[in-house]
Amino acid sequence: MARFHTLRVAEVDRLTDDSVALTLDVPPELRPEYRHAAGQHLTLRRTADGTEIRRTYSICSPAPGPGEDGPRTLRVGVRLVEGGAFSTYALKEIGAGDELEVMTPAGRFTLDPAPGLYAAVVGGSGITPVLSIVTTLLAREPAARFCLIRSDRTAASTMFLEEVADLKDRYPQRLQLVTVLSREEQQAGLPSGRLDEHRLTGLLPSLLPVAQVAGWFLCGPFGLVRGAERALRGLGVERTRVHQEIFHVDGSAAAAPASPAPARSTVTARLDGRGGTWPVREGESLLETVLRNRPDAPYACKGGVCGTCRALLVAGEVRMDRNFALEPEETEAGYVLACQSHPATERVELDFDR
Ligand code: FES
Repeated sequence: MARFHTLRVAEVDRLTDDSVALTLDVPPELRPEYRHAAGQHLTLRRTADGTEIRRTYSICSPAPGPGEDGPRTLRVGVRLVEGGAFSTYALKEIGAGDELEVMTPAGRFTLDPAPGLYAAVVGGSGITPVLSIVTTLLAREPAARFCLIRSDRTAASTMFLEEVADLKDRYPQRLQLVTVLSREEQQAGLPSGRLDEHRLTGLLPSLLPVAQVAGWFLCGPFGLVRGAERALRGLGVERTRVHQEIFHVDGSAAAAPASPAPARSTVTARLDGRGGTWPVREGESLLETVLRNRPDAPYACKGGVCGTCRALLVAGEVRMDRNFALEPEETEAGYVLACQSHPATERVELDFDR
């Protein structure tokens, strides 16, 4: 069950003009709760002027090993979003010694270290969870290799440039690094320009044996992730080998058309071992209904992107506005995003504990 705790900021490192890495200390008694897999994220919460805001940031530090009780520190990358309430605060105000409210780790964009070849296509801040995945994999699994293809505007705007270069120095044989800059010329032979489906369809087979890749990790803006997914599908890669996490969704990703909801619906929800049944008000999402009665219900983005509000649909049917977080296997298994779900039957039952 997701919970918030207060953690102290140990360090704030400036990565680029518009991004920082926040290192948080985890006291010994909380380490088991913050045990995380490589690729998971944290939700940070802040109340300003009476309004609560939550934002999800990926953990870039490696996952704790099997023998450790949990991480001593957690590091997340934060990039400034224009007008972003939390990112502006993170870049301009947060300093060492400050305290932040931090949810326990969540997310299924993860890799358990195993032998084999893995690859990632990332854009911009999409490097953040993949940095944790690559670092953890190469340190723990000597028979694993990784091909990291990253796309950024310029070298100066590239997050974790040094960290990735250090990894390349440490594992020159096992890490293949390809950097594509869209707004800057590179040395001869290196690709530049935007990475889209067409470019990737040509580029990927020239870089690595596509059919032998055990797991693909796509992370970044909506357009890049969708383009990479289509390129992989065109190259015959099975869907089950492709994991994706979208960081920004723009207006072009339209919501599903609304269909009329039953006149009086109720939602029954089980959360942290306790259940309740409440009427759903017209137009509200199931998450909003549950939150009115159970303020501890898990959520972060409320936009169908982060997956924090995932719940199992135990009974009834729902209509989801949009879903950029759940894999097809999860929706087939009956999981829904509560923040995007509206009742399509009079009774709906959700389980947040499974
Ligand atoms: S809260 Fe982020 S997907 Fe629902």
